[in-house]
Amino acid sequence: MDMRDNQIIKCPMPDGGVIAKGFYNAGPMLKDDTNGPTDEDSRMQVVCNVNKADFAKYVEKIKASGARVYLENTMADDGCIGFEYNSIPYHAIFSSKRNEIRIIEDPSSLPLDKFEYSEKGDRKTLLYAYALYYDPANRCEINTVNCGMVYIVRLSDGSLFVVDGGYVFQHSKEANDALFKFMYDLADKQEDGKIRISCWYFTHGHDDHTDGCTRLLERFHDKINLERVMHGFQSRKLCGGFSPAYLDMKEAVQKYYPNVKTLKMHTGQKFNLSDMTVEVIYAAEDVISADAFDVMPLRDFNATSTIIKLTINGQRLMLLGDTSAETEAFTEQYGNPEVWKADMVQVAHHCFNYLPKMYEWVSAPVASVPNRFYGAHAHDNIHKLREVLKYIKDNQIYYSGDATYEFEATENGFVNTASYPLVGKEFDMSWSHKHTV
Ligand SMILES: [Fe+2]
Repeated sequence: MDMRDNQIIKCPMPDGGVIAKGFYNAGPMLKDDTNGPTDEDSRMQVVCNVNKADFAKYVEKIKASGARVYLENTMADDGCIGFEYNSIPYHAIFSSKRNEIRIIEDPSSLPLDKFEYSEKGDRKTLLYAYALYYDPANRCEINTVNCGMVYIVRLSDGSLFVVDGGYVFQHSKEANDALFKFMYDLADKQEDGKIRISCWYFTHGHDDHTDGCTRLLERFHDKINLERVMHGFQSRKLCGGFSPAYLDMKEAVQKYYPNVKTLKMHTGQKFNLSDMTVEVIYAAEDVISADAFDVMPLRDFNATSTIIKLTINGQRLMLLGDTSAETEAFTEQYGNPEVWKADMVQVAHHCFNYLPKMYEWVSAPVASVPNRFYGAHAHDNIHKLREVLKYIKDNQIYYSGDATYEFEATENGFVNTASYPLVGKEFDMSWSHKHTV
């Protein structure tokens, strides 16, 4: 293969434009990169000064190269293509507002078509905004917090899709037992008596989003088959702000599930997990500038939250993680707000962030808040909640600090079909983080 000037990654490159010098290290999948790059790290190169026609020609070039193409997707005027070349997955996205083609090499991911699956079962697909114990006064105390979140989707094949996990303080023995029991009762059992978690997704590398997974796997791995893990974590070196305990989660996954299927998430990916479709709307590497690959411009780590849209039975749920105003500003300038419309929204960052444009783009008539009612209505947060409430129909806003809420995706949108009491209270000091630095 002929290499162009400045080309480092080893896949076909566009013929037009200029390849920016250097590459962006987008981080590893499950390895610890605290002390420097690993052989798992994804690398992104950017081709500047290209237009839509250049991208169309590039797509044809990839197809003619012998690469195996498994994804073609468009978001407004942006396009993307996923392909495997010499046994390595690549993801290329054309950004019409920046006139760039961004190409990412993912040595630690499976090709998307080998990660996804579309086998369906006859179980009703149900979404749960799972209840955690949030500090009653919206504070962080010695054994309580006001953050953390867990969502669970029981897919039609009887497996579970899990989002994040809650903070250590929200996983007393009582609370962690209850989460496992909830999952175990909800999922179909395999012949070996285990349940399938078909995929665990992490929005970002903060411990209030990873601890619950760590603890659950440590205590119940012999009753769980964890099949897939996906995230859009960046490199620890370039992206300060990871909670050290995100490494506890990585270690637990590797220890108990060495053969787990893995996916690094990138904007434009669209794939199935049983009857649910996942579309990646935003990934933190999107904000990287082609003239400063060694600079992460985001000041708030929460803006590294990957943003995804889940479609279940035609109904769309936007998961915003802990995203912040920096992502809102970036999306307004370079993203595609027109693809954000959804039928339900997860309120970002426990309702701590003021995001009026984002909630307008989503315009969701149903919302789930990963906090308790009091936390979202606290003096500091009420004006942020009002931006969500503008679009809510029939008071369909649900607070995960108050109860676990079940939703069914019907032709009339997401409908709350049941609720279950919160189990757990202040932390019992039964365990702690392993990684603290
Ligand atoms: Fe959080």
